[in-house]
Amino acid sequence: MTEILSHIDQGVMTLTCNRVDKKNSLTAAMYAALADAVEAAEHNPDVRVLVFQGSETVFCAGNDIADFLNHPPSTTDAPVFRLLKNVAAFPKPMLAAVAGPAVGIGTTLLFHCDLVYAGDNAAFVMPFVNLGVCPEGGSSLLAAQMMGHHRAAEALLLGEPFMAEAALEVGLINRIVPPTEANGLAQAQARKLAAKPLSTVMEAKRLMKKGQMQQVLEVIDDEAKSFGRMMGEPAAREAFGAFLEKRKPDFSKV
Ligand code: COA
Repeated sequence: MTEILSHIDQGVMTLTCNRVDKKNSLTAAMYAALADAVEAAEHNPDVRVLVFQGSETVFCAGNDIADFLNHPPSTTDAPVFRLLKNVAAFPKPMLAAVAGPAVGIGTTLLFHCDLVYAGDNAAFVMPFVNLGVCPEGGSSLLAAQMMGHHRAAEALLLGEPFMAEAALEVGLINRIVPPTEANGLAQAQARKLAAKPLSTVMEAKRLMKKGQMQQVLEVIDDEAKSFGRMMGEPAAREAFGAFLEKRKPDFSKV
C-alpha cells in the first residue's frame, strides 16, 4: 500500500506514513499494514532495527476519524490494538522520527520506542478524553511513569498538547533538531544500532523491558476493551460527529 511505505536498507527497516493530505491519520487498513510489517520485521533476519517516520510537517494525526467510525475497533485483536501489542513486544531496537503533530497513537507509539528524535515543530497530544474514549497503547500506565502523575493528567485528562521542549524534559524524546533533520538523525542512529551485534542489543532490550512487559500487554488489552465499549457511547458519538461536522462538541448532556 502506498500510504505505508516500507523500505529495508543496511539492516534498517523504515516504515513511513505517507498520507500527508490527511495529516498521516491512520485507517484500519493502514493499521493492519503496519501491524503486519512489524510482525514481519521481528522474524526477518535482514531487519536489525525498525524506524517509524512521517514527513517534515506531520508525524501522525492518530486515527482517521471517519474510517474509525466505519470500522470501530470492537475487539482487542482489531488492527490498531494488534499494532500496539506488536510494538510493545517488539524485541529489536525501535526508533521514531517525529516532526509536526503527533496525535493519539502518534504519541502513544513513542512510549514503546527505544529512541525518539523530534523536529522543533513536534507537538504531542493524547486527546482521548476530548474524543469520548480512553487512553490506549499502554499510555494509562506509561505516561504517568514517564512524566509523573500530574503532567500525565494534563496530557491525558485535559488532553492538552505539549511541545518538543516539554517532551525532551520528561524523557519522551532524545533530542530536538530542525524538522528537516529528524528523519536523517533517526536513520543515522538506527545505522549505529544495526552495526552492533544484534543478539546483544536484543538481550539488553529484553532485560530493560522484561520487568513490566506482561503488565504493559495486559494494560493495552484492558484499555482496548474500554475503548471499544466507549466508541459506541454518547460522548464518543458527539465528539466524533463534531469533528466530522467541523464544530465544537457539546458534552453538556454526556
Ligand atoms: N481523521 C480524519 N481526517 C483527518 C484527521 C483525522 N484524525 N486529521 C486531519 N484530517 C484531515 C482533515 O479533516 C483535513 O481534511 P480536508 O482537507 O479534507 O478537510 C485534512 O486532514 C487537513 O487537516 P487540518 O485539520 O486542516 O490540518 P491542520 O494542519 O490545521 O491540523 C491536526 C492538523 C493534526 C492538528 C488536526 O488535523 C487535528 O487535530 N486532527 C484530528 C486529530 C485527532 O483528533 N485524531 C484522533 C486521535 S485518537
